[in-house]
Amino acid sequence: ENDLKVSRALIAWYNEYKRDLPWRNTNDPYIIWISEIILQQTRVVQGLEYFRRFVNRFPDVESLAVADEDEVLKYWQGLGYYSRARNLRMAACDIMDRFNGIFPDKYEDVISLKGIGEYTAAAIVSFAWNQPYPVVDGNVFRVLSRLYALEIPIDTTKGKKTFTDLAGLLMDNSKAGLHNQAIMELGALQCIPQNPDCNKCPLVDKCMAFAENKVDSYPVKQSK
Ligand code: ADE
Repeated sequence: ENDLKVSRALIAWYNEYKRDLPWRNTNDPYIIWISEIILQQTRVVQGLEYFRRFVNRFPDVESLAVADEDEVLKYWQGLGYYSRARNLRMAACDIMDRFNGIFPDKYEDVISLKGIGEYTAAAIVSFAWNQPYPVVDGNVFRVLSRLYALEIPIDTTKGKKTFTDLAGLLMDNSKAGLHNQAIMELGALQCIPQNPDCNKCPLVDKCMAFAENKVDSYPVKQSK
């Protein structure tokens, strides 16, 4: 199954159509981490300005670790979900204590940090070091469920495992970072929830949902 055609098509599309976003022009795990936490519950357009201000004031782990929590929260003002900001600072202190201030590059160490789950850990190690961990967010669920007309509900433990395994199989391991960015970007720009313009999609000739004229039926959810 994995003949890399899907990954190649995704990456070629991405190189042509991707948005130019500041956190994509760096391999610094700290910068990538901040961007992913901001983007968890915030749209890219709104997050951009917060991201710029935040990394300008707190450019590295140490500057964040030594800052007063009140000041960190001030830079988060308006984004909501303030536990994100508190966790960021706590994790920065943890990196100072346990890893000498060096952002850890082992997935297990990264995911041990406060506020970092599977998605964020995979994003950090794949974008910063090209480690072959698949990212699976809402965009990836949508792309994969349509591509393979997957009936398994995404909001179940079994579904999440199925999608994560499939995402890993599809990935060109030598291009993990690019591949992950590309599949997320396809979901964000092209394989959108409502009325996607499938004729412009780089995967249209491989898409089972499109072939069955059922793009609107995916992803399947258990809860309505
Ligand atoms: N949403 C979450 N992570 C993102 C990223 N790296 N680029 C664009 N949008 C995102």
